Amino acid sequence: MFYACQRVFVLFVVLIVAICHGDRLSAQPASGESATHPVTDERIAGADSEPANWLSYGRTYSEQRFSPLDQINVENIDRLKLAWYVDLDSKRGVEATPIVVDGVMYTTAAWSIVYAIDAASGKLLWKYDPKADRKQGFYACCDVVNRGAAVWGDKVYVGVIDGRLIALDAKTGKLVWETVTVDQSKPYTITGAPRVVKGKVIIGNGGAEFGVRGYISAYDAESGKMVWRFYTVPGNPADGFESPEMQKAAATWHGEWWKGGGGGTVWDSMAFDPELDLLYIGTGNGSPWNQRLRSPGGGDNLFLSSIVALRPDTGEYVWHYQTTPGETWDFTSTQHIMLADLNWRGKTRKVLMQAPKNGFFYVIDRETGKLLGADAYVKTTWASHVDLESGRPVETPNARYDIDRQVVQPGPFGGHNWHPMAFSPKTGLVYVPTQELAFLYEDEKQFKRSDSNFNLGINFHAGALPANDADAAKVIKAFSGSLTAWDPVAQAPRWRVHLDDVWNGGALATAGNLVLQGTNRGQLNAYRADTGEKLWSSDVQTGVHAPPISYAVAGRQFIAVSAGSGTALGLAAGQLASHSLAPNRSRMLVFALDGKATLPPAPTVARAAPAHLPAVTADEAALELGKQHFLTHCARCHGENSVSGNVIPDLRYAAALTAPEQWQGIVHDGALVANGMMAFAKWLDPKQTEMVRQYVLSRAKALSRP
Ligand code: HEC
Repeated sequence: MFYACQRVFVLFVVLIVAICHGDRLSAQPASGESATHPVTDERIAGADSEPANWLSYGRTYSEQRFSPLDQINVENIDRLKLAWYVDLDSKRGVEATPIVVDGVMYTTAAWSIVYAIDAASGKLLWKYDPKADRKQGFYACCDVVNRGAAVWGDKVYVGVIDGRLIALDAKTGKLVWETVTVDQSKPYTITGAPRVVKGKVIIGNGGAEFGVRGYISAYDAESGKMVWRFYTVPGNPADGFESPEMQKAAATWHGEWWKGGGGGTVWDSMAFDPELDLLYIGTGNGSPWNQRLRSPGGGDNLFLSSIVALRPDTGEYVWHYQTTPGETWDFTSTQHIMLADLNWRGKTRKVLMQAPKNGFFYVIDRETGKLLGADAYVKTTWASHVDLESGRPVETPNARYDIDRQVVQPGPFGGHNWHPMAFSPKTGLVYVPTQELAFLYEDEKQFKRSDSNFNLGINFHAGALPANDADAAKVIKAFSGSLTAWDPVAQAPRWRVHLDDVWNGGALATAGNLVLQGTNRGQLNAYRADTGEKLWSSDVQTGVHAPPISYAVAGRQFIAVSAGSGTALGLAAGQLASHSLAPNRSRMLVFALDGKATLPPAPTVARAAPAHLPAVTADEAALELGKQHFLTHCARCHGENSVSGNVIPDLRYAAALTAPEQWQGIVHDGALVANGMMAFAKWLDPKQTEMVRQYVLSRAKALSRP
């Protein structure tokens, strides 16, 4: 009976929406093959009147990730089953939020490959591979991921890992225009989803781990011509400043910061308030991380780790709030920016909310940029609190590591990372994928800029996990994840679900009083939004990092999630990931009440080391050198201590380990360049390449064997 009511209600909503929007929904194709109606600013701004669609990255310009659909709800969630799935052509991490417009889903996978899928049946409508040069994988710090497309007018927009922005015909998937948004001789990458605001496609980029200058640009949605660009950090003063703000920002830097780019890349978050006509962007960490090396003498280093409000027509600066002045811990402010109108101390206020990596949950007046509240949402050791008067964090004596090494929490993975939060206007809670893990920062005394590795300015390996698996497991046990329901007005958690692992997926809140989230270990879970009670779980066979979404076609509500493990954890934290990350099986998974699909049984992954390992012939000193070369050049993909996550081969099992010539062919000469494995001849001579093999061989021999 209840179910019938829900159904009638959803049909009613569909009807009302259809009436409000002419024939928009009545023309909604059941098969997804007929024409879709152009997406406009008005449609995105009025997204709440068409809950069947998910028109923009965060569903609405406010990026709340709340679905007003309630056909699937706390009463009937046990009937939620897989309705269809599509295998994605990818062995690397998947982070995309799909867009759904009138029965058609547009999504992306690794290497920026784009898919259009019938959202009711799962039938593939078209696929577009921008054919990014696989060498670009070298500069993707955090895997060759893509967080999704934007749809506007009759086109689909995607940022490509190599720095291009492409526009495709939404109906056919044919390329309409493409433009290069970066200097491709520099280590820029694009992983973020574009947003379209007032006829302009807005896109940033990443690369601050290698050394770039951050910026965000707007392109005309029709022609692909650049309209404006806003740099987030100042360039070389000798070249002149682009704007008065850059000149002011330069006064907060010292030394020759521009030589390392400075960082501040805008690689993920944006939100737009049509009423205030403000576009909000989140900026990234410094490049290199270590402020002592980046800006000797300190300074705030604007606009690193900041939220900046811009005019969307011109890119003109309006206000900024810096979450981490003098950033030196990789504390980005690129995390999800969410807008809401909250009852704040008895008055309705237009606020902006962010839980950046640094551990504090910020509530900011989005008209003026004034800080209203900031409280620690996880254990935070670098600052005792944020002073509301000055808006600045009060650092502890154990924060900066220019004199002594410091264990700091949160670390570079953040108390919360890019994994989107969700807000339910019904509960007033923000659901944040949170995590507790500390990191040991140590100054890199012999820092030398390099174009083959992370340029962090810290001894990245001081905090490496112990090589011995059992000892490593003990350290990893101290790390954990959680889903935190944060009350932004009370500035405290209302409930928290403990998860064994870090790096779990983004969140979705729905009007069915549900919160959904995927996990590293391969589950999609649903909780009661008001209490956190776990109601439902499905084994999805692979790690889930992306946030679920919800949409409806012909009155049937669906929950969709891009599944496929990898991403920053799978690469940079190989050893940690190897303990917790379910294997990569990249798929779009779509659930509905009484769904009838089943996944094929998961193949068992049998990893066998080469049967007869040759003897290690290198002496202690050569092995140590091999280890150092490995740490410098290989560990960031193949994992520290040569234990990899699950997306890049674990070299202890590589056949090439037994064949020195093949090893030289791959590592020195680049036999696998087409698959994203660089040639290292520029940095390692054949003798050094062999030392690396000897070191990996010694690690393979340490594996326990049956
Ligand atoms: C930017 C990431 C990255 C870095 C850095 C990197 N690799 Fe790789 N490597 C890859 C990828 C991706 C593959 C898989 C290529 C494929 O699928 O064929 C690979 C494959 C290999 C293989 C073949 C493995 C097998 O099972 O067949 C060897 C050997 C190898 N890498 C050695 C190294 C060594 C040694 C270093 C450091 C000098 C290094 N790699 C640095 C990404 C990387």
